[in-house]
Amino acid sequence: MSLVIAMDGPSGSGKSSASKGVARALGLRYLDTGAMYRAMTWWMLNQGVPVEDGEAVAARAAEPVIVSGTDPDGPSIAVDGADVSGPIRTREVTNAVSAVSSVPAVRSRLVELQREIIGSGGIVVEGRDIGTVVAPDAPVKVYLTASAQARAARRAKDLAADPGASVTVTQAEQERRDRLDSTRKASPLTKAAGAQEIDSTQLSLSEVVEAVVRLAKEHE
Ligand code: DC
Repeated sequence: MSLVIAMDGPSGSGKSSASKGVARALGLRYLDTGAMYRAMTWWMLNQGVPVEDGEAVAARAAEPVIVSGTDPDGPSIAVDGADVSGPIRTREVTNAVSAVSSVPAVRSRLVELQREIIGSGGIVVEGRDIGTVVAPDAPVKVYLTASAQARAARRAKDLAADPGASVTVTQAEQERRDRLDSTRKASPLTKAAGAQEIDSTQLSLSEVVEAVVRLAKEHE
């Protein structure tokens, strides 16, 4: 298998920017698995499925056709042929995604799609369970963290267009999501065996990218 870099960590740790930067620096593809869980969640909400009802979600999990692009310069995500890159970032989706992604039928369907995309490698994959479940044999595994405050500040910046998204509200919503993502039964967020932990609180984006690129070069 050629290079697979697994980038796991909680929301707001800087995973997306760092993963795209690493993919660009090394000429690799890039897969945002969180966008796939968001796309599934957007579709469930759009269909009127009660997202807190795990059985109702599981019963429909095979239906949406989810297609992820892998270009780090223009990541794209489509559901049933429609681009949903914008709609999957709303607070409504963000606050429902933990419930949907805790459903085993959702996870097994998306993990299968993710493994198809990873194929024989040459890719940076970001998520919560990449080093533990999706690609446990990935030669490079990173667990990216940052202080709760730094993570909330980053998320609030992402949601700057939403007037309800103050740092305090975002921090509370994020703490709830991290708690759900880390304590769920199916593939909770946890540091994989062999993962290198990088705390990005005091690091610039390019410092994080350089650290991961260094790790990747050690594995060549
Ligand atoms: O990375 P993100 O914030 O866009 O991810 C959205 C949600 O998707 C996150 O709250 C948990 C879920 N997720 C997951 O369960 N497993 C992954 N591999 C990626 C994301």
